[in-house]
Amino acid sequence: MANVAVIGAQWGDEGKGKVVDWLASRADIVVRFQGGHNAGHTLVVGNQTYKLSLLPSGLVRGKLGVIGNGVVIDPEALLAEIARVRAQGLDVGPERLRIAETAPLILPLHAALDRAREAARGERRIGTTGRGIGPAYEDKVARRAIRVCDLAEPQTLADKLDELLLHHNTLLAGLGAPVFAKRDLLDRLLELAPLVLPYAEQVWERLDEARRAGRRILFEGAQAVMLDVDHGTYPFVTSSNTVAATAASGSGVGPGAVGFVLGIAKAYTTRVGAGPFPTELHDATGKLLGERGHEFGTVTGRPRRCGWFDAVMVRQAAKVGGIQGLALTKLDVLDGLPELNICTGYRLGGETLRRLPAAPAAQQAVQPVYETVPGWSASTRGARSWADLPAAAVKYVRRIEELVETPVTLLSTSPERDDTILMRDPFEG
Ligand code: IMP
Repeated sequence: MANVAVIGAQWGDEGKGKVVDWLASRADIVVRFQGGHNAGHTLVVGNQTYKLSLLPSGLVRGKLGVIGNGVVIDPEALLAEIARVRAQGLDVGPERLRIAETAPLILPLHAALDRAREAARGERRIGTTGRGIGPAYEDKVARRAIRVCDLAEPQTLADKLDELLLHHNTLLAGLGAPVFAKRDLLDRLLELAPLVLPYAEQVWERLDEARRAGRRILFEGAQAVMLDVDHGTYPFVTSSNTVAATAASGSGVGPGAVGFVLGIAKAYTTRVGAGPFPTELHDATGKLLGERGHEFGTVTGRPRRCGWFDAVMVRQAAKVGGIQGLALTKLDVLDGLPELNICTGYRLGGETLRRLPAAPAAQQAVQPVYETVPGWSASTRGARSWADLPAAAVKYVRRIEELVETPVTLLSTSPERDDTILMRDPFEG
């Protein structure tokens, strides 16, 4: 029996929420290990719809949720989200949710800087969620972050705020944005401290004990490999590592404890925010995918850009992300299209590439090479076995497996939890 890590294999929004929820019902502990409240997971359980950003999805299933040290935590957002799901009837007390003492905090000045910098970038903006994720990670690496454990020490908070404000107010003033007062920030942090600290602990120790007791751990990734700060379409990426290796460093377990890595990919491609997107469609088909797939950002409500399935990119994501099996989602959005294109290479200059080049200009310049395959007219929505799928849909999935060099171990055929075709149980490794 293995643990499982779930990561996105494209640019996010692959439908991780449903797959994570499905797997969480079979796990004992669900761990977030990177990102922050830039993520958005929508979970439909019975007649309730839960919108989670920071909380591990397993909470909805009554499982223990852990927020690891690799996550950046906005305490206001955390408490608001806890209050929201509590109002929906979920029990989210300190016995259900544990937070790493070493996780860095996102403060209002981080979101202010995120937005001021995006505004200053103008046309060249990254399209961030504006929630302070990048500046918070910068402070962590620069060794000036306030961490969860610091909330217990008012003097440490005061000293750290001096250092933070020296840095941030200088930048904010330079960008023409309002600056922050130490007293306001300190007072608020002291108010928040007793609300957050009951959740805080050394989560590595709990995870170690759970592992030794044979508990099943699900590591829940946020964003996706192509938004990874090292391996993605830099600089149009998020500020954390989103690959499966981060499940280990972002929660305090060894790499061997991560177990089976399931990558989630849509049967087509979407992206929110700016940056290269070789298979993007600006035509009626792109619009159709967006409408049928309800492609609007969970966090920001922005319409997502849509395009054909890019096997070159997902193959690369599988290799660098450590993906051992693919969960393919939203196949039903393609129902009724007469033919489908799959990107099998990129043309750049006179060459055909089977990888995304590293340089931003080259990433923008590549032209997709398509293989056209027949579509299917019958509906795949709600299919629960291979036999329910039209032959052309099965062929499409098989071709994706070949090109991505990774088996499709799970197929999701509607937002409903049970409309899933399982080829291999990830917890069986
Ligand atoms: P940031 O994470 O807010 O800094 O945003 C950086 C980039 O990551 C932007 O293109 C965002 O749109 C994208 N991004 C961040 N979180 C998500 C997500 O959960 N799904 C999809 N894109 C995301």
